[in-house]
Amino acid sequence: MAKRVVLAYSGGLDTSVAVRWMIENLGLEVICLSADVGQEGTLEGNREKALGAGAMAYEQLDLRAEFADEYLAPIIKANALYEKQYPLVSALSRPLIVKHQVAMARKYGADGIAHGCTGKGNDQVRFEVSSMALAPDLELIAPVRNWGFSREDSIEYAALHNIPVGATKEKLYSIDDNLWGRAIECGEMEDPWAEPPAGVWQMTQLTATQPREITISFDQGIPVALDGTAMSLFELIMELNHTVGAYGWGRLDMVENRRVGIKSRETYEAPAALALMMAHADLEAITLERDLQREKIRLEHRYAEMVYDGLWFSPLRSALDAFIDSSQEFVTGDVRLRLEPNRCVVVGRRAPKSLYDYGLATYDSADRFRHADSEGFVRLWGLGVQTWSAVQGPGSQSS
Ligand code: ARG
Repeated sequence: MAKRVVLAYSGGLDTSVAVRWMIENLGLEVICLSADVGQEGTLEGNREKALGAGAMAYEQLDLRAEFADEYLAPIIKANALYEKQYPLVSALSRPLIVKHQVAMARKYGADGIAHGCTGKGNDQVRFEVSSMALAPDLELIAPVRNWGFSREDSIEYAALHNIPVGATKEKLYSIDDNLWGRAIECGEMEDPWAEPPAGVWQMTQLTATQPREITISFDQGIPVALDGTAMSLFELIMELNHTVGAYGWGRLDMVENRRVGIKSRETYEAPAALALMMAHADLEAITLERDLQREKIRLEHRYAEMVYDGLWFSPLRSALDAFIDSSQEFVTGDVRLRLEPNRCVVVGRRAPKSLYDYGLATYDSADRFRHADSEGFVRLWGLGVQTWSAVQGPGSQSS
């Protein structure tokens, strides 16, 4: 049994109670790690809360730039959307946090990693599988999964032990957010027929009224400038969350398949993520050779599933990243987006190595396409089904 663990500490009710609970019930020494991954809420006060709950040490890390460069950049290059929609917001911060928990465990001589996830979600899978991949020797402790506390029990436990928490007994939404977006669960939304209440949206409040165009520049698949101003990926995403979010665009309402077999209704807002991946995929349409593009699209779904399922640190991701990186060599150029209230669409794209050939595409007098070549091409292309129809058909009657 572990003696000393590093807990991923959000400062919320569950992780605060978990500190004390692990000390009392498991006899552990607890080190708390709070990570800034660009979430809205402040981490201010976390040190006092963690130490107040009995932690032997507290560390706070600003991981925003690392999150953008090492975790979001690959996702943009992969156009990774789980079940064609969800940009993997929570699935991306977990492996990064675990990487730093492991480093912290080594620094403090800890022999375990702890998290505050329940047994019903995906995040437990991501925390634990990431830890198993990076540090197979470390023990995994999931107090919230085992203690059997209701929300009221946790609040009472906190009060009993003088653990400072701001939570009230009223049922709140379960929210997880970071630089890449915001997930809102529970409450009224557990009825998949019910429309999410207006109050759940934060990043996508419609405040802008005038239509606007913005240009995003990419270098080998990575966004590097906004309207001609070069910026780090972290800054660009922050800026885009504000710019696009102000048009009330970037919301998702979906029922998704969790790794543990539950279908759950989820609402998300991710204005920058969705705008960037839309723009990136559009730029690929003019820079990727057809078969490369088709194969990449096929692998993108697999990539998203793998990340969703907690396999960020895995040989499959390394191999897929190698493929994707190689595909991005010429994905350099600009995409123009038009923003209108509740709308964001691509209105233009250009690239120095664009494969779009005006002479081949045009119907006007500049046309260079050899029309006569098509006759033989189509005859051979259809030869197989023509033969099938004649011999085994009737092709004309099959639907
Ligand atoms: N369903 C999403 C996912 O699995 C979001 C999870 C958000 N976590 C939370 N504690 N609210 O990635």
